[in-house]
Amino acid sequence: MAGSRHILLIIGGGIAAYKSLELIRRLRETGAKVTPVLTRAGAEFVTPLAVSALAGVKVYSDLFDLTDEAEMGHIELSRAADLIVVAPATADLMAKMAAGLAGDLASTLLLATDKRVLVAPAMNVRMWDHPANQRNVAQLKSDGVLFVGPNEGEMACGEFGPGRMSEPAEIVAAVEAALGQGPLAGRHVVVTSGPTHEPIDPVRYIANRSSGAQGTAMAVALRDLGARVTFVTGPAVVPPPQGVEVVRVETAAQMLAAVQAAMPADAAVFAAAVADWRVEGASDRKIKKDGGKLPTLNFTENPDILATVSTKGPARPSLVVGFAAETNDVEANATAKRARKGCDWIVANDVSYGSGVMGGTDNTVTLITDAGAEHWPRMGKTAVATELARRIAAALG
Ligand code: C5P
Repeated sequence: MAGSRHILLIIGGGIAAYKSLELIRRLRETGAKVTPVLTRAGAEFVTPLAVSALAGVKVYSDLFDLTDEAEMGHIELSRAADLIVVAPATADLMAKMAAGLAGDLASTLLLATDKRVLVAPAMNVRMWDHPANQRNVAQLKSDGVLFVGPNEGEMACGEFGPGRMSEPAEIVAAVEAALGQGPLAGRHVVVTSGPTHEPIDPVRYIANRSSGAQGTAMAVALRDLGARVTFVTGPAVVPPPQGVEVVRVETAAQMLAAVQAAMPADAAVFAAAVADWRVEGASDRKIKKDGGKLPTLNFTENPDILATVSTKGPARPSLVVGFAAETNDVEANATAKRARKGCDWIVANDVSYGSGVMGGTDNTVTLITDAGAEHWPRMGKTAVATELARRIAAALG
C-alpha cells in the first residue's frame, strides 16, 4: 500500500478533474498523505474548497502566493513528496513539462523536483493523437516520467478513442507500483556510471568515450523494480534519471569515496568506465607552451573500485556486478577479469571500432557468472538493463 507515503497531486484543467476528488479520497484510504496543487485551469473545474476538504490540508494554487513561498517554497514543496502525480495531465501541462517551462506553480514544481512523476493524461482523442502531443509523450517517457492511461472509451466531449483519464483505482495501483512495490522494494543498490575525468591541470583532463547510457539504463531498471538506487556518476553525456539519489563525481578517487560512503548496499553495479590511470602530480596551474618543448605526463594507477568493493572491507554487497569493455577475446578476457576482481558477475561487451557500442544505443553482452558464459543477442541498452535488473532481483531473492 502507499502507506505513510506523501504524494503531491497536481490537478490540471480538464473535465476529468472531477475524478481527482475521488482519487484524493482513495489515496488517503491507503494511508498516503496528499498535498494538492490546483492549476488555474483546474480551478475552473473543481473548487479549491472541495480539494482541500478532501485532502484535509490546504491546496496550493499559485506560484506567486508570497505567503506560501514564505511558509514552504516551491523547491521544498516539490521535494517533500515521495511521488508527484499529475491528474488530469492536460496536453498543455505535458507540453510545458516536455519543454521545461516553469511559468506557474505546477510546471515549476515539475521542473524543480528530484522525485518520480506519474502522469494520468486526459484530453480529446485528436489532441492525444496529434503529432505535437505524441512528441511530448515520447520526450516525457524518455525523461523517465511514468504514465497511467489514457484509456480508450467515450469521452465527455462525445468523441471516442484514447484520451479518457484512467479511473482512480487504476491511478492508485500505478502510484503503488511507482512507490516501489516491486521485487527490489526495500533493497539498496549502488550503480556507478559514466566516465571519470582525471585532471592534467585546471583546464585539461584525461577521459574516455563513455556516455553513461548503460549505467543510466541500469539505474532506471533497478528503480522500476522498487530498489532504492544510489547513482554515482562521472561527467556523463546522458543526464541522470529521476527517482534515484544522484552523487556527482569527477575523478576515480572521488568515485571510490562516494561508493564507499553509500554502503551498505544489497547489490552494486559498476557500469562506470573509470580511467585506469591519472596524471601523477597534476599541475594546479595551466601548463604553458614552452618554446616547442613538450610536456611529459607521468601516470599512476587509479584505485579499482570494483575490485576494492568486491574484496575489501566488511560491507561487501551480496551481489557485485562489473562490466567489461573489451575489444578482442571478449569471453576469455571477461572470465579472467571476474576472477581477478573478485566480483560475482561480469557483463562483458565488445567495444571495438565498428561495434557501435561506445556512445550507441545497442549492446551485445556476454554475462559471466560462476555458471559460465551466457551470450545474449544484440539488444538495446534499456533491454539489457531490464534483463539484468530482473536477474539481480532473482539473485537477491
Ligand atoms: O579493468 P576494467 O576497466 O576493464 O574493468 C571494468 C570494470 O571494472 C567495470 O565494472 C568498471 O566500472 C570497473 N572499474 C572500477 N574501477 C577502476 C576500473 C574499472 O570500478 N579503476
